[in-house]
Amino acid sequence: MIRAARPDEIALLPQVENAADERYARIGFRQVITAPPASLASLELGRRLGRLWVATSPLGRVVGFALMKLPGGTAWLDQLSVLERWQGRGLGSALIDRTAEYARALGHDTLYLSTYLGVPWNAPFYERRGFSVLPRGCWPHTFRLQFMIENRQGHPSWRRTIMSRAIIADRTYPS
Ligand SMILES: CC(C)(COP(=O)(O)OP(=O)(O)OC[C@H]1O[C@@H](n2cnc3c(N)ncnc32)[C@H](O)[C@@H]1OP(=O)(O)O)[C@@H](O)C(=O)NCCC(=O)NCCS
Repeated sequence: MIRAARPDEIALLPQVENAADERYARIGFRQVITAPPASLASLELGRRLGRLWVATSPLGRVVGFALMKLPGGTAWLDQLSVLERWQGRGLGSALIDRTAEYARALGHDTLYLSTYLGVPWNAPFYERRGFSVLPRGCWPHTFRLQFMIENRQGHPSWRRTIMSRAIIADRTYPS
């Protein structure tokens, strides 16, 4: 189930993010694991603004989340994580869809994110969900800034890219 995050769940989310990222260790991508998770302050702000959703297990346990931000007025999927044990059941896709729905309701026609090229559960996963790589020449200033921040946090820039998905109402994507 996907629903808005509750205040008492904020503290759990950095642990969910760190645990989900363990998947990168198996492909030798330790930089992702050492990069800091989303801060409690940014998660709480996202929650208050209605831009934070959790995925829950049938017993109501939080097993994933998505955080959307609006850098430079664009709809940006800032964080998406699902605990390893719960991956591969459609929760990641459902969190993306919820984020896209919300962005659309705010009047956006595009959802953006940054991710890794060549990592099976990153760019290829998003491509199968209607996203495509945005050529660097098309990046607005805000994204260049966003990229610099991520690089400073330890995300290696050489495999990193920005992707976008049209979220106009009458299009559907494979789930
Ligand atoms: C990216 C992520 C959120 C996807 O979440 P998810 O709940 O596994 O997403 P879904 O179940 O909707 O789709 C997973 C895909 O992996 C496939 N899959 C199959 N078995 C799987 C398994 N055991 N574990 C993971 N994925 C599996 C699914 O079939 C699906 O493939 P498809 O794209 O061909 O449909 C999750 O992998 C994750 O948290 N990764 C670590 C953090 C991360 O990379 N975040 C994104 C940063 S940009």
